[in-house]
Amino acid sequence: MTQRQILVTSALPYANGHIHIGHLVEYIQTDIWVRFQKLRGHKCLFVCADDTHGTAIMIRARAEGRPEEAVIADMREAHVRDFGAFQIEFDNYGSTHSPENRALCHTIWRAIRDAGLVREKDVQQLYDPVAGTFLADRFVRGTCPKCGAEDQPGDNCSKCGATYSPSDLINPKSTLSGAVPEIRSAPHLFIELEQLHGFLEEWSQSGRHLQPEVANYLKGHFLGETLRDWDVSRPAPYFGFEIPDSPGHYWYVWFDAPIGYIASTLQWCEKNGESLDHWWKNPSSEIHHFIGKDITYFHTLFWPGMLKTAGFSLPAKVHIHGFLTVGGEKMSKSKGTFVMASAFLRHLNPAALRYYYATKLGSGLDDIDLNLSEFVTKVNSDLVGKVVNLASRCARFLENSRLSEQYPDDGGLFASAAGLSEQIAAYYEEGNYNAAMREIMLLADKANRYVDEKQPWALRKDPSKGEELREVCTVTLNLFRQLVVYLAPVLPVLAEQTGQLLNRRIAHWDEVGTPLTGTTVSPFQHLMQRIEEKQVNAMIEESRPQSSEATPEPVPATPAGHPADRWNDSGEALAKEPLAAECTIDDFVKVDLRVARILEANHVQGADKLLQLTLSLGGGEVRNVFAGIKAAYAPESLVGRLVICVANLKPRQMKFGLSQGMVCASGSGGSEVFLLSPDSGSVPGQRVH
Ligand code: MSP
Ligand code: ZN
Repeated sequence: MTQRQILVTSALPYANGHIHIGHLVEYIQTDIWVRFQKLRGHKCLFVCADDTHGTAIMIRARAEGRPEEAVIADMREAHVRDFGAFQIEFDNYGSTHSPENRALCHTIWRAIRDAGLVREKDVQQLYDPVAGTFLADRFVRGTCPKCGAEDQPGDNCSKCGATYSPSDLINPKSTLSGAVPEIRSAPHLFIELEQLHGFLEEWSQSGRHLQPEVANYLKGHFLGETLRDWDVSRPAPYFGFEIPDSPGHYWYVWFDAPIGYIASTLQWCEKNGESLDHWWKNPSSEIHHFIGKDITYFHTLFWPGMLKTAGFSLPAKVHIHGFLTVGGEKMSKSKGTFVMASAFLRHLNPAALRYYYATKLGSGLDDIDLNLSEFVTKVNSDLVGKVVNLASRCARFLENSRLSEQYPDDGGLFASAAGLSEQIAAYYEEGNYNAAMREIMLLADKANRYVDEKQPWALRKDPSKGEELREVCTVTLNLFRQLVVYLAPVLPVLAEQTGQLLNRRIAHWDEVGTPLTGTTVSPFQHLMQRIEEKQVNAMIEESRPQSSEATPEPVPATPAGHPADRWNDSGEALAKEPLAAECTIDDFVKVDLRVARILEANHVQGADKLLQLTLSLGGGEVRNVFAGIKAAYAPESLVGRLVICVANLKPRQMKFGLSQGMVCASGSGGSEVFLLSPDSGSVPGQRVH
């Protein structure tokens, strides 16, 4: 295989807040991809940095009465600690407030000026005369001009959804000082993106650099019309870099932030004696950015435009992911689901979150839901019950002894699992970690069946079966090790421990193809512990505001892009299945939808799509239902959860038994099935109106 040269980045986290489990979706996703590439033997560099500039940091520093540099230094330490604890391993972690970044900003700005893309225009903006600063939209609140709701943010109303500009608010107030803002005019510098229209069209629509839904979104929302000029300067006071040919004006944080990717690479190059051009001006170096969907606009229009103009390599791919929800809802401080990385670490093993996210991540932009009870079941049943269990069932029998000198006959198990190597690798490469995890767990099931059949614990009791015992354990430990190689990008610590257990470090993906023989088995140490629901509960409890704080929901930092950037929903599903003919309320009430709890979920012998569910409507009322959800759900992950069922559907005799209803789900079938569940608080038996 030819060695690729790959530069990978995650978005640079803002230095005005701590890392939370939402951020971790991205950093874990990227880290898995990087570890996978390294394990495959490619030359791969993972860089990131803190994003330090902008109004928010300036305000925080003022509030704390210390310089911005002190605020960002503390936050950097916390970020680095959290990332390290989650085994997110950067080759360099820089800062946008660095000399390297300043120098690169100068170079790139020069190129953009020379290309004739910069234009000056006056901008009317709200100004806080007490704080002495211009106000970003989110620092102004007032009464909605449309519906009259009070205390609404400067850009859109949370009650009626109207969008407006902050100067339209009635009774506007600065959130910094409470002062009534004034409208002031100041010159700003703009980049005329429209001059790059042709290039951006071609780059974004080539089918090679963006996920198809992202390319379509850009076409539908931006590229179909004239591209708006991009305002890249802010008048003083602003915490950032001063624009060299425009004194008193600073680059807007989103200008220098992505340049931080290059600056962080430069720091690495300086430490490692390599040239920056080798990574950023070299057609055989691939650049991969991982970002969340809220910052699509910046990375797929502005950034390629800047790179192109300044003569740097363009991203080979921008990998965009969805947002984390917890229990189907936005993370919430009051519900205790806004969990900080550090709070997670106080209660749970970070490897559990890495694995759980891997089982959830696909290559699309769908949001990722952390379902806390599923999290517990999945980690326990997959990692502890299926994977680690293989080692704990056999390693002790060979403690301080050796694996067989020749790999024994295992009925083709090892070879057939090795045969999936390229398939699983392709899943990782495409970002389909969920598919990779599913394949790997199927292999784990097979390995466990082998152990169940061979019963090493029984062989152990019969002294004449010593050699057979060694063979069975050699096979099992090899099947275990093979799974661990496949899982190594997700679970680096498990890979490390397995290396110690079997006295051979896992260093390359191709080790899935060669069984280990003759090495000594070290004394068995616990590899991974079950997690308990009470640990999760304690974490949630700790994350709730203490009663004295009565913290309001945080105002989400509104990204400066297009409002639709946040969700990016495509019209595909609706187009695939157009709306049904109109019905009356009377038609609707004929269908009795009820909340039900899944008491039992089982595989159905002979049915490859169905699971058998026992549903409770409360008070002893149960229904037997067959549901075509086998490809999407493991039965053990379903037990206990609430679903919506059609409770008055005429029973139907099926080959496997009587089906007394239906569970409601969306999706196109197969593994694309999503069960509906009610919000928490709802109970079995309630009717859905
Ligand atoms: N500083 C900018 C990025 C600059 S990149 C040149 C920023 N920072 S952030 O801290 O708000 O977010 C960092 C990354 O985490 C972004 O890609 C963002 O999409 C992602 N996430 C932040 N919250 C998230 C969730 N709740 N869920 C998933 N990803 C989330 O944006
Ligand atoms: Zn309103």
